[in-house]
Amino acid sequence: MPRHAYVNGRYVPHGEAQVHIEDRGYQFADGVYEVVPVFAGRLIDEEPHLDRLAYSLGELRIAWPMSRAALKLVLRELIRRNSLANGIVYLQVTRGVAPRDHRFPEHSRPALVITTRRARPISPAHLANGVPVVTLPDIRWRRCDIKSVSLLPNVLAKQQAVEAGAYESWLIDAEGCVTEGSSTNAWIVTKDGRLVTRDRSAAILSGITRQALLDLVEVEQLIVEERRFTLAEAKAAAEAFLTSSSSFVLPVTRIDGAPVGDGKPGRLTLKLRDTYISHMNHAAAAL
Ligand SMILES: Cc1ncc(COP(=O)(O)O)c(C=O)c1O
Repeated sequence: MPRHAYVNGRYVPHGEAQVHIEDRGYQFADGVYEVVPVFAGRLIDEEPHLDRLAYSLGELRIAWPMSRAALKLVLRELIRRNSLANGIVYLQVTRGVAPRDHRFPEHSRPALVITTRRARPISPAHLANGVPVVTLPDIRWRRCDIKSVSLLPNVLAKQQAVEAGAYESWLIDAEGCVTEGSSTNAWIVTKDGRLVTRDRSAAILSGITRQALLDLVEVEQLIVEERRFTLAEAKAAAEAFLTSSSSFVLPVTRIDGAPVGDGKPGRLTLKLRDTYISHMNHAAAAL
């Protein structure tokens, strides 16, 4: 059965899906996106993902391409057509098609594209050994809270990580603090067991996995600090990890080549990975 995409009102075979050359997403990166994890055929944390979509659209003054309720139906229909069990749904909304001009067009309709992708299993070696990250200056714009399709600095940062043999880049702000990864949120566990991740602000994307994990750990009575942390603090940490909708919770065991703690995935990190996976299992079973 061919994989389908949803493009502006139609389900089309993925290989034939097209958008117009004057789509403002293509010309100006004038659009936003969401990535929603799918587990056992169910959308996980759909509401917070759609809330974040609403926020991103609102900040850029792009209208919803359809009602939230209709969008939920389309997401489910695409999952059904593509027989997606585990993976992600990618959805992108741009300001639409208009003759190229920087100012907002008066009459464009927002354009909506939705695709699905099967989960790429995390390599057993990454889980067993953790992953290395390299650090780079954070050269992004000052509205990283908007999930904009304008991802060139993130793309360059990821490529630099790949070329350095690392899994991810951790981005460092002008004060020497870690903001986040190129497509993941960054966390450390201090030597005295406190869980630290950057506070929400325009300097980071407020990850849905990050928030889900914060909600989950609240019941475990861990000491959690949402605050800035320096690269030096990260390098001196007992454990480190990253979170995202496709990596879940993944141990980080090297920063710029130096081991974090004993250089092995941390005990708390692995426990939090299990906690998050149970959350997905429960969420999928409850739907
Ligand atoms: C810059 C950035 N930070 C963090 C995340 C993690 O967000 P989420 O947990 O919602 O996938 C992403 C995901 O794409 C991202 O692009």
